[in-house]
Amino acid sequence: MNTPLQLGRFTLPNRVFAAPMAGVTDRPYRRLARQLGAGYCVSEMVTSRADLRDSLKTSRRANHDGEAAPIAVQIVGTDPGQIAEATRYNLERGAHIIDINMGCPAKKVCNRWAGSALMQDEDLAARLVDAAVQAARPFDAPVTLKMRAGWCAAERNAPRIARLAEAAGAAMLVVHGRTREQGYGGEAEYATLAAVKRSVSIPVVANGDIDSPQKAAAVLAASGADAVMIGRAAMGRPWLFGQVVRYLADGTLLPDPAPAQWRDWLFAHLDDHYALYGESVGVRTARKHVGWYVANLPGGTAFRQHFNTLQTAADQLDALRRLLCEPQSLSSADPLSPLSPLAFPLAAAA
Ligand SMILES: Cc1cc2nc3c(=O)[nH]c(=O)nc-3n(C[C@H](O)[C@H](O)[C@H](O)COP(=O)(O)O)c2cc1C
Repeated sequence: MNTPLQLGRFTLPNRVFAAPMAGVTDRPYRRLARQLGAGYCVSEMVTSRADLRDSLKTSRRANHDGEAAPIAVQIVGTDPGQIAEATRYNLERGAHIIDINMGCPAKKVCNRWAGSALMQDEDLAARLVDAAVQAARPFDAPVTLKMRAGWCAAERNAPRIARLAEAAGAAMLVVHGRTREQGYGGEAEYATLAAVKRSVSIPVVANGDIDSPQKAAAVLAASGADAVMIGRAAMGRPWLFGQVVRYLADGTLLPDPAPAQWRDWLFAHLDDHYALYGESVGVRTARKHVGWYVANLPGGTAFRQHFNTLQTAADQLDALRRLLCEPQSLSSADPLSPLSPLAFPLAAAA
């Protein structure tokens, strides 16, 4: 399962991918995820609307400086002409792969009949994939599609859309095993994924509620999918990618790294984060990432409350140094203690 996966002209090093998450999987996060084992990352979605392209948020999302290939940009939209134009625009600016979002349930997206709402209109969904594929052809760039199992429980039409997308030239499909109606509630199911896998011959990626190496293996076995994509479980825990890669390779369950190991990754993450957003925005947006990292530490909740009041990058880094670099601040009885003998061999995750 850890043999490389071919996506167009790109050979992906493994089959454990990072899911796109708006406001989370920005370039600093993606860089770290790759470093710690993710075989493939997709950017946060960007609009296909040219009139919104110059907004700071969209242009930041389209910034791929220093990012390793292949760079996959996710676009969202409802108009084939705009999708084609956005495909060309992003490929001309450094993207190598275009992913079309038909999975996002957010109102902002669905009210405009985009994201997972598109799954209700199979003909339009197919035309959007076709428009992107045609526009991407001169660039020799694969087009992929990320969708849900269906619109609602009664209409799990992902297999039909999968067939249409494959016929239109899609190179890979990601399926989140929930319906649009479910939002993020309930549990992901993988039977629809298995049906998608049986319906097409292009690679199919399983997504939804994968939060451990064992779950990844179980989902792959249940669905027959070619790869897994992990979102929320890796927030503040980017080493999960390497753990899953290793488990799928040889059954080894790597322990979670101690803070003495992950603090360096977090500091590097924050350096990158402040550099991308600038201090004023960066200090605010760093809070959620740090909150996820420290959530399971002794005193993590109190630390987080204090951290959220800090107004400068220097103060944030200082507080983290005091928490993570002074051994007495972490209980040695805690399995995550820096005194723990457990070690996370980074090389194994690379
Ligand atoms: C905060 C957040 C933002 C998300 N943004 C996107 C997005 O921009 N594009 C997309 O296709 N899916 C998005 N998703 C959905 C995830 O990619 C993924 O499909 C979903 O979280 C299920 O996977 P998980 O259980 O591993 O988190 C988002 C999810 C979350 C929680």
